[in-house]
Amino acid sequence: MVSTAYAGAEAPDRHRAPSARADFTIAQDWSAYSGEEHETWRLLFHRQEAVLEHRACREFLAGMRDLGVAADTIPDFQRLNDVLHNATRWSIVAVPGLVPDAIFFDHLAHRRFPSTCFIRRRDQLDYLQEPDVFHDIFGHVPMLMNPVFADYMEAYGKGGLKALHLGALHHLARLYWYTVEFGLIATSEGLRIYGSGIVSSKGESVYCLEDPRPNRIGFGLMRVMRTRYRIDDYQQTYFVIDSFDQLFEATRPDFTPYYAELAGLSEIGPSDILPGDRVLHRGIPGG
Ligand code: PHE
Ligand code: FE
Repeated sequence: MVSTAYAGAEAPDRHRAPSARADFTIAQDWSAYSGEEHETWRLLFHRQEAVLEHRACREFLAGMRDLGVAADTIPDFQRLNDVLHNATRWSIVAVPGLVPDAIFFDHLAHRRFPSTCFIRRRDQLDYLQEPDVFHDIFGHVPMLMNPVFADYMEAYGKGGLKALHLGALHHLARLYWYTVEFGLIATSEGLRIYGSGIVSSKGESVYCLEDPRPNRIGFGLMRVMRTRYRIDDYQQTYFVIDSFDQLFEATRPDFTPYYAELAGLSEIGPSDILPGDRVLHRGIPGG
């Protein structure tokens, strides 16, 4: 999730320019995007729109609709902010890539979502390990239009600053990973996606719901914070919440005693299933 270094080892361009500001924000410089870059956005957008119609949760789809994210060009953050700030008092700030943990959490705690500006190359449409503007905006911002999720993200930022001081960030990072990035939600129409890492990936949007290989397990806070994750491939386990209220309520308590308890508990591998798990689907490795 968060790391002090960002992976883009390529030659820096205008949308990767190092920041001069202490909070790592930069100007989006919207007019500097090329026609080809806008075209990459358009391709990604239309692909995902089709894939997500019956796969993303209604909160995501409603957020997307209400934001009015441009389908044909990389969005101008300023325009999105007019709508977003009015809806939930969140705003998007531009950053050059992954930022230090404390900076990232401080932005979230103040209802600012740090977004990258650069867009992936045309040969990277299907997979990119680092976040780009498509992942950050298309993936994350629609959920920030939802009042409950908007509050969850702010609380997460505050919790992140605390976890940092308690040396428990690896536990809290797993919560972000398995909810914000790769979360599923149970609905009356079946499982739906809300995780931004999934909704910004065509392959994983199908895989997480329809492939027999990954586990799908009912969300448990301590369970998730014990579970390692992989960043180099589709997930082997998805955790399923029943509602955003459930997620918000489960994470409301002070985590300090949880971290103390976690320090004495063993870690769980990304594909492991435990006796107490509420298993909705047991993965079939390689199947
Ligand atoms: N309640 C958590 C704490 O005290 C903070 C938190 C909120 C973490 C929401 C994650 C999500 O540390
Ligand atoms: Fe992300």
